[in-house]
Formats: sequence, C-alpha cells, structure tokens
Amino acid sequence: MRVLLFTGKGGVGKTTASAATAALAASRGRKTLVLSTDPAHSLADAFGTRLGAEPTEIDTGLYGMQVDAQRAFERTWREVQGYLLAVLERAGVDALQAEELTVLPGAEEVLALLEVRNQVASGRWDLVVVDCAPTGETLRLLALPEALNWYVEKVFPAQRRALRAIRPLLSRVAGPAVPADGVFEAVERLHRELGDVRRTLTAPSTSVRLVLTPEAVVVAEARRTLTSLALYGYRVDGLVANRVFPAGTDDAPADDWRAGWVAAQAAQLDGVRRDVHPLPLLTSPYRPAEPVGLEALTALGEELYGQADPGADAAPAEELLGLERTSDGFVLALALPLARRGDVGLTRSGDELVVTVGSHRRVLALPSALKRCVVTGATLSEGRLAIRFEPDPDLWMRP
Ligand SMILES: Nc1ncnc2c1ncn2[C@@H]1O[C@H](COP(=O)(O)OP(=O)(O)O)[C@@H](O)[C@H]1O
Ligand SMILES: [Mg+2]
Repeated sequence: MRVLLFTGKGGVGKTTASAATAALAASRGRKTLVLSTDPAHSLADAFGTRLGAEPTEIDTGLYGMQVDAQRAFERTWREVQGYLLAVLERAGVDALQAEELTVLPGAEEVLALLEVRNQVASGRWDLVVVDCAPTGETLRLLALPEALNWYVEKVFPAQRRALRAIRPLLSRVAGPAVPADGVFEAVERLHRELGDVRRTLTAPSTSVRLVLTPEAVVVAEARRTLTSLALYGYRVDGLVANRVFPAGTDDAPADDWRAGWVAAQAAQLDGVRRDVHPLPLLTSPYRPAEPVGLEALTALGEELYGQADPGADAAPAEELLGLERTSDGFVLALALPLARRGDVGLTRSGDELVVTVGSHRRVLALPSALKRCVVTGATLSEGRLAIRFEPDPDLWMRP
C-alpha cells in the first residue's frame, strides 16, 4: 500500500502528472485509485471520462474518483468554522488567510482528504494517487492537529466544563452566541479525524511529488514549498519538471525563439537538480497536444518514469525530525531543505517550540526530556536546523 501526493503551483500539470502516474502504475499491474481533492473537476477531463463520488473503473485495475466533500460536510464545518478561525490565527496564519482557509473551498479540500484516509484505510488499493489542490495550503492546514492538541486536551475540557456550569445563565444574557455542546463534539471529532489524516499522510508509505515547470517564478515557489513541506513533516521523494521544451534536432533545428526557451529551461533545471540532489527530478516534454485520455497519459507516464516503478517504495529519506543526545544535553534537528538563515525563526513558548520559515509556522510539542531544558543555541546548515538544549539546573533540581 502506497500513497503518492502531487502538489505544485496552479497549472503546472499536477492533474496530468497524477493521472499519468496512476495510469502507468495500473498498466503495470497495481490496483490503483487516483482521486482529486481539487474542487475543479479536471481529473475527469484529463481522462476524458465521467468520474463519480465513488471509485469508478477507468480501465483494468485503474479507478478514479472525484471527491464531493461539500455536501457531506457543509453542516459540520459551519459549526467549527468560527472556532477554527481563532486557532488558525494562533498558529500564525494571518486573519485574512485564516478567513480564506475556513470558507468552503479550502475546507472542502481538507475534508476531501478525510476521504483519502477512508480509501487508504479500506485496504482495496495497492496505490492511491492524490491530485492535490495548489501548493501547500492544505498540507499546512493538516499540520494543525499538532497546534490543536493543546486546545483540545487542555483548554477545551476546562472551557466545556465552565460553559456547562454557566450556560443557563449565559444563554439568558448572551443568547445563541454561546457555543452549543455540539460544537465541542464537532471540534473534537474533527481534531481526531484530522489527526488521522495527518498520520496517513506522514506515514512512511506516503510521499509527496512536487510538480513544477522550468520557469524562474515557478521554481522559486517550488523551492519554498520544498522547505515548508519538510517543516510540516511531509516527505518529498521526487520532483516532476513538466512541459520541458524539446531541443531541436538536426532535421528540425530550433529557431531563435525555441532555442531561447530551451536554454532558459535547461538553466532552471540545472539549478533545481543541484538544489534537490539526491532527490530525483523526473522530466516530461512539452507535448504537441494536451495529454488527454488514457493512452496519452500512459505514454506520458512512460516518459516520466521509464523502466522505474512509479509506486516504488521511497528510499528511506533523511529523518525529518530527530533527537540526539550529546555530552551537554540534546540536539533537536529539523530538516529544512533550501531554507535561508534570515527566514528561519525560533521561539520557545512553555512546552512548545515554534519554528517559523517565512510565513510558515510549526508548533512542536517538546518531548518530555526537553521540557526541562533551556535552548542554548541553534544553527542552520546543509538544510538542517539544529537546536541545542541543555538541562536547566533550576528545573532539574526541583523535586
Ligand atoms: N507535458 C505536457 N504537454 C502539453 N500539455 C500539457 C502537459 N502537461 C499538462 N498539459 C496541459 O496543461 C494544462 C494544465 O495541466 P493540469 O494537469 O490541469 O495542471 P494543474 O493540475 O497543475 O492545474 C492542461 O490543459 C494539460 O492538458
Ligand atoms: Mg489540476
């Protein structure tokens, strides 16, 4: 059982790459489900078929589905929307973005990921390929259960008890603004389910493939995404460079316009390859027509993977988060590929460590050994943030 997530900037070819990967894997005998969590229903368009909200057979061993999260979850979501807004803000998402994330399009995608979890858990598939909505936001939202933990475990029960006691009084004064018990239940359920989804998507059998086109703007965003995926604990096992202009041949030499593009793209690809080494960078050429339909997609898959198995187990990657004991204390190391020193921030807040990279923020609950330590320094080198901890004499001495 293997799960592959495809993400990247809008329009680079996520849907095409997901569909091509699934088509190729199925043609080589893996029972494959490809599903899209993007509300734009382009997966069906790519295959040139209709896809329903249940797995629909496209070909032998190849199934597709278009998750229709809206209907099922709208009600629950409304209940928790307001609450989530507050939590998002605490997790460092600015108010405007939080607003955007909790309106249905963003929410829909998260809830669609619940369906991914259901399909993975069903045991029906050898491979589940997920065509995700554009870059990062969803994955970032899925990092929230960690931030939510504290609320759900500590603040929530207390709040709930307090509210229960004062509700009769409050409802007279404040009317329906007091959250009903149902809201707490809905939040707890959502928290549990998001935690489940996150475990599925960060499992060793799951990996992310980042799709890009070899253009400076797209590559710049892909670099940032690579960093933030690692920050949130998602493992990337490869990149796909799509729509690469084929160089001219002796029979059909490139004109200046084409030669210009070929050279510019080659320079971008060299840069990416160097940056992401040893991750593989797969490439697919700019086709003379849109790769639509099973045949064209399988052919594109073959171009991408050659003889390699599209659903092969990812090589065990460098640990994303590790704790080592040193002579003075501990080092907590967090993989942050391509991060620049000036973009990385670190704050300790009680038993939590808040790591920020640009506008991305992860709240890490400290393991118990580190709770009684002080942070004595941090270094960023070769894509790893190493945070040094030493025992806090005051805390260790305490009975
Ligand atoms: N290698 C390619 N050659 C030619 N057209 C492509 C290629 N890859 C994707 N396309 C076309 O580009 C458009 C965007 O691709 P799509 O997979 O829908 O992107 P995304 O899902 O990232 O938004 C589609 O019309 C698709 O058919
Ligand atoms: Mg798409």
